Amino acid sequence: MIDAHRTEAIVRQRYAAGAKERVDNLCCSVEYESEYLKVIPQEVIERDYGCGDPSPYLFEGEAVLDLGSGTGKICFIAAQIVGAKGKVIGVDMTDEMLDVARRNAPIVAERIGYANVEFCKGRIQDLALDLELLDRQLKAHPITNAASFLAADELAEELRVKHPLVASDSVDVVVSSCVLNLVESKSKRQLFEEIFRVLKKGGRAVICDIVSDEEVPEEMQNDPDLWSGCISGALTEESFLAAFERAGFYGIQILKRDAQPWRTVQGIEFRSVTVEAFKGKQGECFERNQAVIYRGPFKEVLDDDGHRMERGKRYAVCDKTYNLYKKSPIAPSLSSSIRSSRYRSIRPNHSIVRVPHCGIQKKARAGITT
Ligand SMILES: C[S@@+](CC[C@H](N)C(=O)[O-])C[C@H]1O[C@@H](n2cnc3c(N)ncnc32)[C@H](O)[C@@H]1O
Repeated sequence: MIDAHRTEAIVRQRYAAGAKERVDNLCCSVEYESEYLKVIPQEVIERDYGCGDPSPYLFEGEAVLDLGSGTGKICFIAAQIVGAKGKVIGVDMTDEMLDVARRNAPIVAERIGYANVEFCKGRIQDLALDLELLDRQLKAHPITNAASFLAADELAEELRVKHPLVASDSVDVVVSSCVLNLVESKSKRQLFEEIFRVLKKGGRAVICDIVSDEEVPEEMQNDPDLWSGCISGALTEESFLAAFERAGFYGIQILKRDAQPWRTVQGIEFRSVTVEAFKGKQGECFERNQAVIYRGPFKEVLDDDGHRMERGKRYAVCDKTYNLYKKSPIAPSLSSSIRSSRYRSIRPNHSIVRVPHCGIQKKARAGITT
């Protein structure tokens, strides 16, 4: 297996080249809302290596973090959706990508009339560590021997705690397009934990990425071209969803799934999916005499906290669960109206895989009035 540092170096090299000029076939072609592209300079638009567009799932006023922001296109689109009251942070580890994004940020700001985007250097599996801050500190205290090497490690840890690049519980939405697959295998778990950490309670991740329909064999994972080309690092569709679950998310659903694979390599299909996952099921349970009924259409459902409910039966739930059920994405009778206004700019030709909602009805338990 190629080691983690080599994997990262290969990815950085490939996208450094992709920042300087357009490289074809690095990822699938994506359609964006043309209205938002008008203010974005051409060099940003053409050096697009995404596999999906998370921006239709954003709202005005939100704080958005884009993982692996590249030349900044998703950030510049998000900037217009969240507006002057919202803000957008793009994180990327490749200097050449950051250079393009940063030199175009003032141009976009001038065209839209406000500046609400910033680009930072970091690794998305370690969102607490500000790599530019670390660089500056290391220039003042260079690593020259074993002692200074160990001190540098301590310094990085101190920076994570005292000056985190992205603070815990600080972001409404984490978005990303075609980047998670590029993170080396051993750091994937930490990557999902980091996404969870930086989100506010009630926040959500909307992630577009390439997934596979079978495990990618080791020899393919050792192929640097396939890895940096968004193939070999892909998780299977199932493991991708399970990774959100393991990190503590709930309400996980596939918002979009390409029916056609983007590529088929050695018989394995690689396609783009967009997944949404919510933070907020953690917390204390208080009894407030609430109960719910699952209305169907399935015979029974199981939520991410392990509540199993048969259709039509009444179940007592704690206040925390009751409130989660009242909100998106589970909110029952509200679900259709929320969908149409919330995800306002989904174009009709996008195929959305709808996970059935729990039709939860507020009901008092026998003898209790609510
Ligand atoms: C396939 S491109 C996608 C860029 C952008 N999201 C888009 O839609 O055009 C992957 C980007 O992620 C960055 N990247 C890859 N691995 C990263 C990591 N571990 N941490 C931060 N950035 C990373 C690369 O530098 C590159 O800019």
